[in-house]
Amino acid sequence: MAKPVQVLIVFDTRLGHTMNLAFQVAHGVKMVEGCEAVTRRVVAQEPESIIPRDEDYERVRAQFEPIEACSLADLEAAEAIVTGSPTRFGVMTHGMKALWDATGELWQRKALYGKVGSAFCSTSTPHGGQEMTIWSLLLPMMHHGMLICPPGYGDPSYFKAASPYGATQWSGPDSDRDMGPNEEQAAIFLGRRVAEVARQLSLAPVAH
Ligand SMILES: Cc1cc2nc3c(=O)[nH]c(=O)nc-3n(C[C@H](O)[C@H](O)[C@H](O)COP(=O)(O)O)c2cc1C
Repeated sequence: MAKPVQVLIVFDTRLGHTMNLAFQVAHGVKMVEGCEAVTRRVVAQEPESIIPRDEDYERVRAQFEPIEACSLADLEAAEAIVTGSPTRFGVMTHGMKALWDATGELWQRKALYGKVGSAFCSTSTPHGGQEMTIWSLLLPMMHHGMLICPPGYGDPSYFKAASPYGATQWSGPDSDRDMGPNEEQAAIFLGRRVAEVARQLSLAPVAH
């Protein structure tokens, strides 16, 4: 049996919203025959002292921490990489950036060159920097020579939620708003689209 096309989904989260998006992206990947979703987290970098340790946070943490942390080998093994982050003032989190900052040696070897890349994010307000955060997530991919796969308006959900740059969700001023049906559908579509494109490319790989 042929090796499945691997789509790596790497995410950060504190309140669970980006994690829920990640699970929907994985769901979309699994819809594509011959593709496998591998879900990983990043390692949180902010000092524990600034994190509010309430019940909600502990519940998310109990789900987040058992997920395996993303390694450089995970990045290298995948045919496609989809990253997700809550916004931090319009950009990805420190933890996500730390992962990319560790990829210098992969960059030198062009180990990620030609892989498919895409992104998703959660913000508290609908205009709180969603597209800039996605943009920040895509920039390191471009430096690695990855092929950016945006959703565009490929699914009707993108006319009502999310962004043609990537899947998004907003959690509200108290960060307690769950994703709506269009946000969910947009995340599923992103995973499916990336998997389809990665699968097509893997049929005729070119060495660099
Ligand atoms: C330091 C910090 C900065 C943030 N900056 C923004 C921001 O610029 N715009 C915004 O809409 N939300 C901002 N947020 C809110 C989170 O991005 C938002 O609550 C998000 O839904 C959390 O996702 P998560 O549940 O995956 O952790 C910020 C939160 C923190 C802790």
